[in-house]
Amino acid sequence: MSRVGPSGEFEPIAVKRESRVFVLTGAGISAESGVATFRDAGGLWYQHRVEDVATAEGFARDPRLVWRFYSERRKQIGEVKPNPAHLALAELEGFLGDGLFLVTQNVDPLHELAGSKRVLHMHGELLTSRCDTCPRRPFRDDRTYLDDPPVCDECGGTIRPDVIWFGEIPLGLREIADAIEACDLFLPVGSSGSVYPAAGFVAEARERSRPPRTVYVGPERPDNASMFDECRLGPAGRVLPGLFKFLR
Ligand code: APR
Repeated sequence: MSRVGPSGEFEPIAVKRESRVFVLTGAGISAESGVATFRDAGGLWYQHRVEDVATAEGFARDPRLVWRFYSERRKQIGEVKPNPAHLALAELEGFLGDGLFLVTQNVDPLHELAGSKRVLHMHGELLTSRCDTCPRRPFRDDRTYLDDPPVCDECGGTIRPDVIWFGEIPLGLREIADAIEACDLFLPVGSSGSVYPAAGFVAEARERSRPPRTVYVGPERPDNASMFDECRLGPAGRVLPGLFKFLR
């Protein structure tokens, strides 16, 4: 059920200085910046096979194909900018400080470019690479590799994008679980709710003895829609800017 005010618009959600808000973003929050989502019509998984470009097996089979896929996405990052949804979350962080826990499934840097300071990229980051062989630390890398995949200058192994592929363990699950436990508002934005563990976070929140308010924002109901108190249907760039009422 969605609370709609007299103007027919959604009633803003009151946020106090001491509020603890958990925000999970998916590809949809970057859609209005021109970044393709995965499962919408024409999305990335309609153009590429997941097993070819987003698994360790696919990388072992054809690292050049994987690097072309990520290089295309790296190139695009230079041409896109944050949209009002990213900016609204940066403003929310400005009001709440560390009362906001922002975790994203996205590998693009648009939250940071909008001014968000603390962003947990649970699926890694597009502009970072790491060695597929040795334990050297991941390093910032905005280069594109359209021909030969890069080779590690420390061990000679193959350098891979520092992103989490299917079958690999997402980052920050402990901090995420703690933040789900502590929040009083749980707010996913622009995610189809079809990929775990992220799609299961709302169930974790609802299993708490005192569950938080759970609100989804996106243009269509996600696969896990039944788990939410409310689904505020609309593009994030339109819904987020007016979503919060800051009680100073
Ligand atoms: N505003 C908000 N949401 C939007 C918008 C918009 N303007 N446009 C589309 N969406 C929504 C769609 O309705 C859809 O629910 O964004 C969602 C995109 O879903 P997916 O493409 O499945 O993206 P996501 O949920 O982030 O995928 C999760 O799957 O392939 C893996 O690692 C990849 O992180 C990704 C994960």
